Amino acid sequence: MFETLEAAKPDKILALIGMLREDARENKVDLGVGVYKDDTGQTPVMRALRQAEERLLMEQNSKSYLGLAGDTGFNHAMTTLAFGEGFDVSRIRTVQAPGGSGALRILAELLKRAKPDATIWISDPTWPNHVPMMQAARLTIKTYPYFDAETGTVSFEAMVAALETAAPGDIVLLHGCCHNPTGANLNGAQWERIAQLLATRNLFPFIDIAYQGFGDGLEEDAAGLRTVAAHVPEMVVAASCSKNFAVYRDRVGAAMLMARNEKEATIAAGQLMGVARGSYSMPPDHGAAAVRIVLEDAALTADWKSELESMRTRMLDLRVGLADALRLKSNSDHFDFVARHRGMFSRLGLTPEQVARLRTEHAIYMVDDSRINVAGLPGDRLDEVAAAIVSVL
Ligand SMILES: Cc1ncc(COP(=O)(O)O)c(C=O)c1O
Repeated sequence: MFETLEAAKPDKILALIGMLREDARENKVDLGVGVYKDDTGQTPVMRALRQAEERLLMEQNSKSYLGLAGDTGFNHAMTTLAFGEGFDVSRIRTVQAPGGSGALRILAELLKRAKPDATIWISDPTWPNHVPMMQAARLTIKTYPYFDAETGTVSFEAMVAALETAAPGDIVLLHGCCHNPTGANLNGAQWERIAQLLATRNLFPFIDIAYQGFGDGLEEDAAGLRTVAAHVPEMVVAASCSKNFAVYRDRVGAAMLMARNEKEATIAAGQLMGVARGSYSMPPDHGAAAVRIVLEDAALTADWKSELESMRTRMLDLRVGLADALRLKSNSDHFDFVARHRGMFSRLGLTPEQVARLRTEHAIYMVDDSRINVAGLPGDRLDEVAAAIVSVL
């Protein structure tokens, strides 16, 4: 059987993790892997989550199946988190999924079922998993330009021009906030224009929101999604709790769909659960149950929000600190975009050779495309990191 298989391409991030582990230098800096880290380099369990887990352990008296949609309390809370308090959810259905990735994958499969010849437009660049996941669902892929590496900003007019060539019914995959890998996001006016374009050209929005609370704040980060929802009759959303609840390995996400009416919403949700049944059947319970406990308890929610806010502001401080240090060391404002970007990532615009030199000469590790995880920056060594970056330019 297996003799027919070829070796899978080595995963670049895993290779980077391997190199980092083997590197004996004490001053090494890990800006590669996409997980939040605190100033001691740890990815801690959030306080409210730990309390919720303790409660779960004490109170859970059965581990019987929950059903294809998973934890309905979690689904309800996640829908409110994304669409906002007071939004009419009668046309929305939410299914718990194994992480944001699981949500992306089952939603892609649902869209393939609904429209077998569907085309999906994906930003260039994007998170590396988007393309393989959409390919796995056999969707036709087209890309729209997104990032101007020279200025570190969104190539907004080029993005709009590309989407204006999309055919009615095409799907457009948008990052809800904190674009990965670039860190460059649409502003409110740009979201408004995209929402109008989607509505007038009858394009179907697919919003991937994996960093809500990491950019400008929990509500602010959902503003783009909510603008789109206010303009279009139907859309889907893949939400992840990996980052904002720090439950990476527990695999917690939600797949949401908004349909033109309640009847279509219920039918589409039935099909979405059918997709889940055909793959993993039911999502893992533990992490979603803990997130639900947090979101249904006012005190735990308040504590979660406050810890999330301190993570967000820590990343903002690191951004400003690095941009300041880079301005001094390079004697230019070229890297000022680092302070304007939002979320965990920024793409610095270095060549793969410059990235390799940072690794070999300075023990600074980042992905080949020069995406840095801002949370990995050592706050007390920003000058040193900036000097190293400038030395390879
Ligand atoms: C843009 C984007 N979407 C979705 C995800 C999904 O994360 P997970 O499957 O761990 O919830 C990630 C994780 O890095 C991401 O960057």
